[in-house]
Amino acid sequence: MLILGIESSCDETAAAVLQDGQKLLSNVIASQIRIHEKYGGVVPEIASRKHVEVIVPVILEALEKAGVTLDSIGGIAVTRGPGLVGSLLVGLSMAKALALARNIPFVGVNHLEGHVASAFLADEKPSFPFIALVVSGGHTNIYVVQDFDRMRLVGQTRDDAAGEAFDKAAKLLDIGYPGGVVIDRLAKSGNPEALSFPRSMKDSLEFSFSGVKTALLTYTKKRERPPAAEEIPDIVASYQEAIVDVLVEKTLRAAEMQAIGQVAVVGGVAANSRLRARFQEDARKKGMRVFIPPPIFCTDNAAMIAVVGHHALARGRRDPFDLNALSRWPVDTL
Ligand code: KG4
Ligand code: ZN
Repeated sequence: MLILGIESSCDETAAAVLQDGQKLLSNVIASQIRIHEKYGGVVPEIASRKHVEVIVPVILEALEKAGVTLDSIGGIAVTRGPGLVGSLLVGLSMAKALALARNIPFVGVNHLEGHVASAFLADEKPSFPFIALVVSGGHTNIYVVQDFDRMRLVGQTRDDAAGEAFDKAAKLLDIGYPGGVVIDRLAKSGNPEALSFPRSMKDSLEFSFSGVKTALLTYTKKRERPPAAEEIPDIVASYQEAIVDVLVEKTLRAAEMQAIGQVAVVGGVAANSRLRARFQEDARKKGMRVFIPPPIFCTDNAAMIAVVGHHALARGRRDPFDLNALSRWPVDTL
């Protein structure tokens, strides 16, 4: 069966064609990064207008690259939430219109379940059950995953998401947008032990990133002048290390507590090169296996939405045409 996946929850307009839940025939992503760059963050009103402009060309390109037409699409999977409602509605309305016009079944997919399912887009795939760290601009959640639609939340952030902590730090230091990507690059030439940043909530599976963010703010305020360009790598490498430390340590501890030897790391921040390296290193020491999809499947994409949709549709799920978008839609289904 061929599934058309559609994603528009934030600032990426994406479409993908997936065959039999496994084989990705196309994966088109139109990013709005350059548009939101000058504002230092995603502007919701602009994001939804841009989605409206590009959604049709993005879907047509996905079909064309896959070498198929709408006639051979057996199901449509679209992100229903969580996300920016104005953005979500563009993808959702498009999916409904196609489904109605062509009599194709469609399902609304949870974006977080989509990120978890992105672990299946890599060559090496986990098997259920596994632990998943969903770490993005909006979420830092640890799940025990039993199936594509059954997962239990065992840890989450009390304040900022890890991606947000990267983005806010980059804004504070005025080093570029999006913060996570810039910090990843600059940290490569820095010393992660140059400065000491706090690691919060050591004894819990909950995260808190407000402390590390405040520590950076205090550090910059205490100085007489802003850090020079050559000082930035040490600062961001140390900041990044504090975030990476707690993400790796808590996720692997959750796996130990659940006696589960497989860990998936997904979401935009899973593209971070230091996080990827540290997870592999530390998991090896503990005899665990870590699954991290290639970076293109870590940040928002429609292929991961199609994976979830494939399984939902194969199990007979169908959604009605009055399905609404959800700005908040926590996953805790066990
Ligand atoms: O999953 P995603 O594309 O969108 C959300 O669902 O939030 O994640 C975006 C987040 C942003 O905060 C961005 O700064 C972060 O992922 N990110 C990174 C990297 N690439 C993207 N953070 C650290 N290192 C990266 N290489
Ligand atoms: Zn996301």
